[in-house]
Amino acid sequence: MVAARRRYLESGVYEPIAAGVWQALMDGLEGEAPYACLDAGCGEGYYPRYLRQQDKEGQLALIGLDISKWAAMAAARSSPDIRWLVGSNAQLPVPDGSLDALLCMFGFAVPEEFLRALKSGGIWVQVEAGSDHLLELRRIIYPTLKADKDVAQEPAAGFSLEACERIRCEISLTSQAQIADLLLMTPHLFRASAQGLEQARQLTSLDVQVDVLVKVLRRL
Ligand SMILES: C[S@@+](CC[C@H](N)C(=O)[O-])C[C@H]1O[C@@H](n2cnc3c(N)ncnc32)[C@H](O)[C@@H]1O
Repeated sequence: MVAARRRYLESGVYEPIAAGVWQALMDGLEGEAPYACLDAGCGEGYYPRYLRQQDKEGQLALIGLDISKWAAMAAARSSPDIRWLVGSNAQLPVPDGSLDALLCMFGFAVPEEFLRALKSGGIWVQVEAGSDHLLELRRIIYPTLKADKDVAQEPAAGFSLEACERIRCEISLTSQAQIADLLLMTPHLFRASAQGLEQARQLTSLDVQVDVLVKVLRRL
């Protein structure tokens, strides 16, 4: 799964999402650099690596954390100039009020722990799939699709919602292997019907929508 995620993300198809996160940080960070920024559930580390490349002035002190030792090890090998940790979002190994920014991308958000770890005025950048994300693939692998889940939610206690950008674009997956990597790195592999998965495995190309919400929540 880690290797599939690495190949898929390094192909560049999700770069618009990474660029949206970089912009959210640049717009939302306040006070003096360097900014302590932790990616909670960083996977194999694509997004911290992208941020490191964008950060020409060295404004971000980046930490990537994942509960999977294999993911954190793959991340550490790819970019030794970022700190990588094995740990849980439910108990971040950082002092109270020490982070300027916390990223949670397609992962397991723990609002009360994020509240503890962030400085007052710090930001939590929450990235999640919108209702049309990978719609064309989901139409193939599920017999029926769940209803639209884009309902506005109240921000978690202790946070105010400062911004919500919707990133939409269409991407072209150009090989059976790339489609297999996408399936392997998402929970869809475990939830989809056997028949749907078989149909997806036969595809040699697929155009799919990317539909992602980048929310910025500021710690009060
Ligand atoms: C869907 S993947 C997203 C990875 C990465 N953010 C990305 O977008 O490429 C979710 C990640 O969260 C990690 N994870 C799951 N539960 C976690 C927890 N309690 N604490 C930290 N990481 C967790 C998984 O190991 C996995 O790498």
